[in-house]
Amino acid sequence: MTRLVRTRGELAAARAVLVQELGAQASLGMVPTMGALHAGHVALIDAARASCAAVVTSIFVNPMQFHQAGDLARYPRQLQEDLALCEQRGVDLVWAPEVADIYPEGPAQVWVTAGELADQLEGPDRPGHFDGVLTVVTKLFAAVRPHRAFFGEKDYQQLMLIRRMVRDLGQEVQVVAVPTVREPDGLALSSRNVLLSPSERVSARWLSAALMAGQNAAGSAEAVLAAAGQVLEAAEGVDVDYLELRDAELGPAPETGPARLLVAARIGSIRLIDNVAVELGR
Ligand code: PAF
Repeated sequence: MTRLVRTRGELAAARAVLVQELGAQASLGMVPTMGALHAGHVALIDAARASCAAVVTSIFVNPMQFHQAGDLARYPRQLQEDLALCEQRGVDLVWAPEVADIYPEGPAQVWVTAGELADQLEGPDRPGHFDGVLTVVTKLFAAVRPHRAFFGEKDYQQLMLIRRMVRDLGQEVQVVAVPTVREPDGLALSSRNVLLSPSERVSARWLSAALMAGQNAAGSAEAVLAAAGQVLEAAEGVDVDYLELRDAELGPAPETGPARLLVAARIGSIRLIDNVAVELGR
């Protein structure tokens, strides 16, 4: 049965009970989320369930990673549905703190700074976003103390930055990446998809179509970018922010070998991101 805890004190007590029940050696898996859970989160929870003795899911819409008040206000919130889903997937503990539990003294004075990768790709559109993500993830890790934490490849830059933070700060948690879950037409699942109007939802499928065209073109970096770019140029209702090819760790694209093709675009007022793995030079 899934147990809901709200405060840090409740979390600590429930964690201690779990550890006592399962034994000190048992692995604790964590799935940090902002709620509005969908099949992409289910994949994270299932991956945690498959490799850990107990699973903790946090649900917290973190104000420090939103730089636009409107975006924060309209972020979907649905705790009861989220709890039902967690129960169904066998989550042991849901931690859904209030803002005051995470930031008891108001907005944090001391932040985790994400470094130069945070200034690229998503960076220019979302100043401070990754500092907010890394700061809250550090706080969540400190409270839950998981052995493994599960993040989706959908937010690839976030995943790379969390990995880097864990290495740089020596945080004792193993970061596990879980592949993106897609709708049948290819659209990557995102909590923001529910904000798309029916016609915007139709346009949104061009993002994954472009990425797939790039992936299938493979060959040189130029060929990949040209194939993906062609799809986006023809796409109606898609205002492209960037289409970039990088290496698998988001450094400059290599001539051959594993790479990552990333896109961000505005569909109406909703900004979507997506990415795929590409093998260059084959
Ligand atoms: O990916 C998300 O849902 C959030 O950025 C995270 C990692 C839960 C931090 O708030």
